Amino acid sequence: MLNRRNFLTAAVGVAAAGTLAACAKEDKGSTGTSSGGSKTITLGFSQVGSESGWRSANTDSVKAAAKEAGYNLKFSDAQQKQENQISAIRSYIAQKVDVIAFSPVVVTGWDAVLKEAKAAKIPVVLTDRSVETSDDSLYVTLVGSDFTDEGRRAGKILEKVLEKAGHKGPVKIAQLEGTTGAAPAIERAKGFKEVMDADHKDDWKIVVSQTGDFTRAGGKQVMAAFLQSNPDINVLFAHNDDMAIGAIQSIEAAGKKPGKDILIVSIDGVKDGFVAMSEGKINAIVECNPLLGPQLMEVVKTVHDGGSVERWIKTKEGDFMQDQAKAALPTRKY
Ligand code: AHR
Repeated sequence: MLNRRNFLTAAVGVAAAGTLAACAKEDKGSTGTSSGGSKTITLGFSQVGSESGWRSANTDSVKAAAKEAGYNLKFSDAQQKQENQISAIRSYIAQKVDVIAFSPVVVTGWDAVLKEAKAAKIPVVLTDRSVETSDDSLYVTLVGSDFTDEGRRAGKILEKVLEKAGHKGPVKIAQLEGTTGAAPAIERAKGFKEVMDADHKDDWKIVVSQTGDFTRAGGKQVMAAFLQSNPDINVLFAHNDDMAIGAIQSIEAAGKKPGKDILIVSIDGVKDGFVAMSEGKINAIVECNPLLGPQLMEVVKTVHDGGSVERWIKTKEGDFMQDQAKAALPTRKY
């Protein structure tokens, strides 16, 4: 649905995969008590990094919600490196935190450290991004978006963008991928390709596709190379707004008009993305909501108290066309 307001699925408390009770941790005597007299929850949170506007908004949301909930938050920024996240998680295990939450930079390579958390009886909650594990009991739940669906929505909204632009002829797409191996990069590409394979086998083609690591600098640099090798690109699908914004700089430097000569669809819906869209430089944005903090804190409490939660608590989001940008901009929360 277009222009739908964000909201998160209220799912806490609904019974799901029965691994939670085994993971729920007993009192390990961590710091202090909350004003209500119950023990303060210590939450260890390992963030991916600070690669994008989305990430900054996500970090702010987690920190503010932890404060509001009265938790003792131990926060670390992994600077987009898996080894840093693994060290942070190990350190949270050593500190005997009550719950560990993390947003995994990539999908694979977590089994060993997650087994260590399980052995220490510390429940793990994934936020934002998923992992591939050999054992489903290694984490309790994922609080985050359906990235495959975001990719599908990007494909469907591109149809509208092309129609609105009166585009005729072949669609030559450049894809700026997110961080290699990260769930949103893999799944957004997959969802977009599903739409192409189903409805646009003959008229759409991805002519170049490369990672820009979810950063502005990456988007700028990779788009400049794309324009050199494929000057006839007429569509850009960027896996996030930051890469689209970086790419816009290279498109303009090449003497082309972003949003006109090259139609642009991106994902996230951060303020800067909306500004670029209201200036006519991005044609459509598929929203990915970073404001996961309050929902995460509820889940942490439920898990800590031994309650059950759904296996995947999905974020609900909207899609925005360029003509909605100006009206939506003042009310954007991130
Ligand atoms: O995992 C969510 C993605 O990570 C956002 O789309 C992107 O901006 C961020 O870096």
